[in-house]
Amino acid sequence: MKKRIVIGVTGASGIIYAIDLIKRLKADPTIETHGIISDWAKQNLKLESDVSLKEFEEMLDYHYSNRDLGAAVASGSFLTDGMVIVPASMKTVAGISMGFGDNLISRAADVTLKEQRKLVIVPRETPLNAIYLENLTKLARLGVQIIPPIPAFYSQPKTIDDLVAHQSMKLMDALGIENHVSRRWKDSE
Ligand SMILES: Cc1cc2nc3c(=O)[nH]c(=O)nc-3n(C[C@H](O)[C@H](O)[C@H](O)COP(=O)(O)O)c2cc1C
Repeated sequence: MKKRIVIGVTGASGIIYAIDLIKRLKADPTIETHGIISDWAKQNLKLESDVSLKEFEEMLDYHYSNRDLGAAVASGSFLTDGMVIVPASMKTVAGISMGFGDNLISRAADVTLKEQRKLVIVPRETPLNAIYLENLTKLARLGVQIIPPIPAFYSQPKTIDDLVAHQSMKLMDALGIENHVSRRWKDSE
């Protein structure tokens, strides 16, 4: 059986991270993707990329409206192997930390938490105020993996794609997906 990964994409800057990860998961025949794209993520897709919404949705095996609280991923009885929210807005992080499942992304995250499955969040905002930090801390204490898009330079990145690939490697590692996406520490030795 394929590994089922839910991907929430929200309206924080950095849609490029979602595009890169989804492309890599699409290329992996062992993975089945279930995507949810918020309204503001759709705006950012237009602002920050050359990828159309149709192309973006076609990269996913299944995609749902963020308003569809009756979708498969809204229920714990629909088995998944985890969820990643990339990029994650502070508004969505706040909703999840309060258990406020008013859209499918926050509901699916809620479900992932209550079923004690793997939840990975890529929060993107700067500077970080105490509200954001408290919300993220609360989630980290529940076992959520917080992987902000903070680049490492030991892999000697030359391009933006190199930086983004390194982030995708971290996300795939967190989701337990074998990958050789980017250079690892000591890889070259
Ligand atoms: C161009 C643009 C960039 C944004 N970047 C961020 C960001 O980096 N982080 C963030 O928390 N919110 C950001 N926002 C604000 C969110 O889109 C806004 O809070 C929205 O309500 C998030 O809703 P969603 O989480 O349902 O997508 C941005 C908005 C726009 C229009």
